[in-house]
Amino acid sequence: MTRLDTVIKRLMAQRSCLNAMVGAVEGLDGHVLELGLGNGRTYDHLRTLFPDRDIYVFDREVASHPDCRPDSAHLFLGPMNETLTTASQKLGPRAALVHADIGFGDAAATERNVAQLGPKIPDLVRSGGFVLCDQSLDRVEDLSPMPLPADVEPGRYHLYRRS
Ligand SMILES: C[S@@+](CC[C@H](N)C(=O)[O-])C[C@H]1O[C@@H](n2cnc3c(N)ncnc32)[C@H](O)[C@@H]1O
Repeated sequence: MTRLDTVIKRLMAQRSCLNAMVGAVEGLDGHVLELGLGNGRTYDHLRTLFPDRDIYVFDREVASHPDCRPDSAHLFLGPMNETLTTASQKLGPRAALVHADIGFGDAAATERNVAQLGPKIPDLVRSGGFVLCDQSLDRVEDLSPMPLPADVEPGRYHLYRRS
């Protein structure tokens, strides 16, 4: 498989998982959290999928396409190990869905990032809410692994439900 194939598969899996969340959270009140704005691709997709929900976005900086920028009331800017704590104080455990796209090219840096941020995520999610992540959060307490959509290879993306 070429690097191009890998990127295409990863993005198709990401889109498929995001699309599947529409049905998953139906009837579940709560906002959506986007951890990792990046260039705004998945934020743009989420706001199309969830036009009636508040979407709060986290990143250390805004570097997204100008068309894909949340307003300041929906933006938590800065290191997420700090802003996730601020958000849990402000928003409480009310997210119906968290999408966390927090990996880097560097595997060791990604592991450190996930170890730091992962345990802060459940405090932001309502009971029965979903956490979708590009990284495994299997070691995070209070998150139970859920099956992925049938067209997504196991391990390519990770889905959990808050107990
Ligand atoms: C893979 S990119 C997100 C891509 C985005 N979801 C998209 O589709 O365009 C990851 C983003 O998360 C941010 N990020 C990762 N770890 C972070 C941390 N600990 N604090 C703040 N921002 C972080 C990075 O700055 C980067 O913009």
